[in-house]
Amino acid sequence: MEFFATDKRNALEAKEYAQWIAFAPFVFQASKILRDSGILAEISNSRKAGISLEAIVKKVNLSNYGVRVLVEAGLGIGLITVNDSKYHITKTGYFILHDELTRVNMDFSQDVCYLGLNHLGDSIKNGKPEGLKVLGPWNTIYEGLSRLPGTSKESWFRFDHYYSDNAFEGVLPLVMKQNPAKLLDIGGNTGKWSIACVNYDPKVHMTIMDLPGQTALAKENIKSKGLESRIDFHEANILDENVKFPKGFDGIWMSQFLDCFSEQEIVSILKRCAEALDENGYVYILETFWDKQRFEASAFSLQMTSLYFTAMANGNSQMYDSKIFLKLIEQSGLKVVEQVDHIGISHSFLKCKKVK
Ligand SMILES: C[S@@+](CC[C@H](N)C(=O)[O-])C[C@H]1O[C@@H](n2cnc3c(N)ncnc32)[C@H](O)[C@@H]1O
Repeated sequence: MEFFATDKRNALEAKEYAQWIAFAPFVFQASKILRDSGILAEISNSRKAGISLEAIVKKVNLSNYGVRVLVEAGLGIGLITVNDSKYHITKTGYFILHDELTRVNMDFSQDVCYLGLNHLGDSIKNGKPEGLKVLGPWNTIYEGLSRLPGTSKESWFRFDHYYSDNAFEGVLPLVMKQNPAKLLDIGGNTGKWSIACVNYDPKVHMTIMDLPGQTALAKENIKSKGLESRIDFHEANILDENVKFPKGFDGIWMSQFLDCFSEQEIVSILKRCAEALDENGYVYILETFWDKQRFEASAFSLQMTSLYFTAMANGNSQMYDSKIFLKLIEQSGLKVVEQVDHIGISHSFLKCKKVK
């Protein structure tokens, strides 16, 4: 992948960048407090005139000392500039304050991952999400999703939905052009994809297969929309190799699902998908592959998100390199008949069929 083929920095830039890494937790925490305390908003609202430290202190109800250390950190981080003792917001400061993608990523980093990432080393050593204990006593985060504490639940769901919601619109026509009568939505979560499908096509019937905690959330959601007659549920833990998949579907859909599993587990899941379908059935996969990104920042975000899987989610999965993932499809007795990259913010769509 060409983003990562060369060392782009000279020695001075490299040493400077190394300090960004050394102080990364400070950069993150200060930026988040500058955002949440209202300091960045006050600076932004001052527009061209800028604002003095004393004026910020009066507006945000923090001590002079507190505002001073944060604003000085903001200068070093590049969120703020100063001229004649008046502070102004930079373009990066603007994105920290107003950009939804940045906010969703930052809240996920803080509320779901920050404390647990301290256990990344042990997670790698043990192949277990050792950081998850800061959120709850589960083997994987999926067992506890509906019971995540405090703001971590909202931040997890906003992060998950932000990415998949932006991709659904682009893939609906790709799946529905096959005129499926019955689709199985594995890892259907709160039901967003199944709801989008039944709204798109008045004939299609959906079944959501997920863990009991999630199907309970999905049921509530679907009932509130009056769609109970169009969407069924099948509760199961897919990690149990003895769980066979229900038959009689024209297609099986998995969105942001297989990245929750190790290579071996993915092969087991895909083999069971192939067993459940007849030769006319399709397996539809929506995934984010870091090597298929248009922007280096997207590849970077996915590479970092892999570490959430390591330390917090399950200890053995990741946002995959597509080359590794495509081999797993092959090993499962399936072949890719259509691939569309660059859907939504960062997704790839794979349509697979059984190898005869
Ligand atoms: C990252 S979410 C994806 C949600 C949704 N498909 C989307 O695109 O936004 C992964 C889903 O897989 C489900 N899941 C994880 N492990 C599972 C397991 N062992 N058995 C069944 N479902 C599981 C989770 O409960 C969750 O709803």
